Amino acid sequence: VPVNPGFPNPTPHSQQAYEPEADFTSRWTRADARQLKAMSDPSAPPRENSMPEEYTMPTIPQSFPDMSGGQVWVWDTWTLTNGQADQLSFKGWEVIFSLVADRNLGFDERHTYAKLGFFFRKADVPIEQRPENGGWTYGGLVFPEGASGAIYEDQSFSHQTEWSGSTRIFAGNKLRTFYTAVAFYRDAAGQDVKPADPRIVQTEGRIFADDTGVWLTGFRDQHQLLVPDGTLYQTKDQNSSVNFRDPFTFEDPAHPGKTFMVFEGNTAGDREAVECTAEDLGYDPADPQREVPVGEGVPGGPPEIASDANLRMGNVGLAVADNKALTQWHFLPPILSANCVTDQTERPQIYMKDGKYYIFTISHRSTFAPGIDGPEGVYGFVGNGVRSDFEPVNRGSGLALGSPSNLNYAAGFPFAPDFNQHPGQFQAYSHYVMPDGLVQSFIDTIGTSDDFRRGGTLAPTVRVDINGAEVLVDRSYGTDGLGAYADIPANEIADVPDTP
Ligand code: FRU
Repeated sequence: VPVNPGFPNPTPHSQQAYEPEADFTSRWTRADARQLKAMSDPSAPPRENSMPEEYTMPTIPQSFPDMSGGQVWVWDTWTLTNGQADQLSFKGWEVIFSLVADRNLGFDERHTYAKLGFFFRKADVPIEQRPENGGWTYGGLVFPEGASGAIYEDQSFSHQTEWSGSTRIFAGNKLRTFYTAVAFYRDAAGQDVKPADPRIVQTEGRIFADDTGVWLTGFRDQHQLLVPDGTLYQTKDQNSSVNFRDPFTFEDPAHPGKTFMVFEGNTAGDREAVECTAEDLGYDPADPQREVPVGEGVPGGPPEIASDANLRMGNVGLAVADNKALTQWHFLPPILSANCVTDQTERPQIYMKDGKYYIFTISHRSTFAPGIDGPEGVYGFVGNGVRSDFEPVNRGSGLALGSPSNLNYAAGFPFAPDFNQHPGQFQAYSHYVMPDGLVQSFIDTIGTSDDFRRGGTLAPTVRVDINGAEVLVDRSYGTDGLGAYADIPANEIADVPDTP
């Protein structure tokens, strides 16, 4: 019996846990992802949200403040965490790490110039007493000049950047930053002469603070941890626009003594050569709304998926550390694949609540495969372990919290948002779910083609209630669901012995 007339039913997912090392990858299927369109109101008029309000981030006003006071563009951001993803303050300071770039660049040029920067502010200040922009002081870049480029054998890169990751705090004041180094090899016209080379890297530093602020040292020695192997994770030679980045490490209480990492990857194999399977599509064979893989259609039968749907092969990778210093790792099979659904499952994180394990990962409207549509936002998957038959949250769709969007109209681009779109469609991206369901993100663009403003600063923090396979926006939080701008509070205090 179809749940939504005109749409397929989602794939059943048991949430059953497997060993982290097991050869089982859960699938975010096309049958699942088509629930996104199924919940969109086909009669929503221009500039109105077509998606359910309970899964939609409240609308951010165009008058947002800038957290860096005009110093830098800011986007993907994280804080100091321990192995359980608690957020720690250090000697009375909250500290965040952000991708930053020079404000003289256009905001869309930022990716090839990104560096890790940091900010700090006093912990435990009531929100009403903080300035509207969050009250952060910009501390500058995290790494010494040139340090993150040193890992490349081929030093002929034209651009070398630092992309997202995460920062763990260990005994005393030791930090380990996990991030993505990317080398670009481009000619004067901006064309790649060799494919970009993304690698997952770790570097160790120290954090210090006194009454006047926070400073960092170290981060000179860079440990290359992982490059794609071509068997589990696609390489740059298999796909010159491969996605491989955004490491997030954690410990699993079910497997004490080990440190795991999730990251953004793509399904291995030469681009275009790997076809999606019936399992990737995930339909009940009797579902009247089913599709079939390319080449399997018969006259009068269900349609084949678009022949280029297999250019969208995102996955959430898993790796495990081989030593205590977390400088040596090996790959495990991906924990989630989104073959023929979306090309990018970015900034994945593992979130534990009530004995359940959630993958939260961000995806763009523009990276969905043909035949799939959904908003910019954070997508969630729930299971009983780090590796599970994950169930996509919210009606089987996966959508945890989307920017307000109208799927009846084209998206446009952040630099040219569609005239008929909801002005909030690109309002926020890179959502990261924090303790107690708080969600931080950055502002990309607010407005429509006739009147829009670029962001480059953190959005108001919002909150979601996470309950089993249901994730609902909390409109009682802040003002109609919008909390303070750039609010990334610590929920724990780092245990730091007094240093002389
Ligand atoms: C998300 C993201 C990350 C990447 C960074 C690059 O916004 O695409 O996946 O690390 O931005 O700027």
